[in-house]
Amino acid sequence: MARVFVSHASADRGLAGELHRWLVGDGHQVYLDQDLRDGIAVGEEWDRRLHERLRWADALVCVVTSAYLVSTWCAAEVAIAASRGVRLLPVQAESGVAHPLLRSIVHADMTRDSVAARAALFEALRRIDAAGGLGWPDGRSPFPGLRPLDVYEHQVLFGRKGEVERLARLLRSPAERVEGRVLLVVGPSGCGKSSLVRAGLLHVMAEEPGWQTLLPILPGADPVAALARELAVTARRSDLGWTVDDIQHQLTQHGLVELADELLLANPGGPGRCLLIVVDQFEELLTQTRHADRARFAELLGPALSGPVQLVATLRSEFLDQLLVDPSLAALPTRTYPLRPLRREALRIVIEGPAQLAGISVDDDLVARLVADTKSGEALPLLAFTLAQLADGVSRGGQLSAVRYNQLGGGSQQIPLAQVVRRSHRSRSGAAPPAGPVSRPPRRRPG
Ligand SMILES: Nc1ncnc2c1ncn2[C@@H]1O[C@H](COP(=O)(O)OP(=O)(O)OP(=O)(O)O)[C@@H](O)[C@H]1O
Ligand SMILES: [Mg+2]
Repeated sequence: MARVFVSHASADRGLAGELHRWLVGDGHQVYLDQDLRDGIAVGEEWDRRLHERLRWADALVCVVTSAYLVSTWCAAEVAIAASRGVRLLPVQAESGVAHPLLRSIVHADMTRDSVAARAALFEALRRIDAAGGLGWPDGRSPFPGLRPLDVYEHQVLFGRKGEVERLARLLRSPAERVEGRVLLVVGPSGCGKSSLVRAGLLHVMAEEPGWQTLLPILPGADPVAALARELAVTARRSDLGWTVDDIQHQLTQHGLVELADELLLANPGGPGRCLLIVVDQFEELLTQTRHADRARFAELLGPALSGPVQLVATLRSEFLDQLLVDPSLAALPTRTYPLRPLRREALRIVIEGPAQLAGISVDDDLVARLVADTKSGEALPLLAFTLAQLADGVSRGGQLSAVRYNQLGGGSQQIPLAQVVRRSHRSRSGAAPPAGPVSRPPRRRPG
């Protein structure tokens, strides 16, 4: 769930405490800023701690009262949060007062209807969470290594802006909409398909009005069960008391269309129009799913695609032929979106962008060596692996070290990355076709 900083004037502790209880009750991690001002935390220490908390937070809930208006602490919190891209969620806690920095933002109005205000706040936070959050806590590495980037790592996805925009346009535009077809992102092994869809497209669509998104499904041996599990997670957020078993039963009896419609109708932010299902590593349907289970999955999804469901999937290109001739998947027409490896010119930003977000410096010579040694986007997993090794234990204010890079190469004068390539080839079980199990991202976003 979301990480929330509650900003309030000292005089409004009672109100802030009430909001704190609401938010914790809804499962969020909450930080009340009063500790900052009370004890030793003034001056430089306050400034340091405030910035750290605002890097951590996804949202700043502002308790707007007349005391809030005159508090310089609160004005500083709002201004810094806004400059960092933290979502501002003002709560009107006293009627007739308006903060100049928050005027243009819709307020949840506690003074008129506290139940509705609470629901509006929860919905805003639910959306932020579904889109992967906005904060980047100190100490979290911006380089995840061999696993794909996930939705909560959207801030460190660089070099794929154009592809994300094109895919989002395909999904949302009625003219171009891929009606009734699976939007299949196809590309060579390790080119970044899962990362693009998880950290790019899913993040964008989760913020889209009218859309509900499920977390990505990996088909494995039982893709219908995988789908039922993610449907249950989303249903829980909409306060529908469906268990995984209920959903499995419902899917068998009535199919997916009815269930998707009900889920969209129960969306706490108002009825949704479209449910986005993401199936990552679609080739697992061919390599891990038995024929009958595969057919059942396709028969469930097929009719829903011309209804309320849109399906995006990622597929290694070497499986495309097999997919197109597989009789059990014939119920799922596809539209392919070819994904090429990252261009060489994008390699620099893939190194510098995440490092900058996490406050880690990299000197120009090391960037140039890493780019030269990586050579092309085809070696992206190996660059990702190397960066994770270099960033291991390096925190904000630290630096990626050329010495460590040399050590990764065994201290020889040979190109270190080439050696890392050789070593890591064994550890990346999914790197070489045919597909083995891929390194899977953790199920939920780390706190
Ligand atoms: N835009 C990016 N910037 C930095 N690293 C990336 C980017 N895209 C992918 N990566 C990294 O490259 C590696 C491969 O990415 P990913 O798993 O998304 O590729 P894939 O095409 O889905 O692979 P597979 O064919 O195994 O399913 C991972 O280590 C991932 O963290
Ligand atoms: Mg993948």
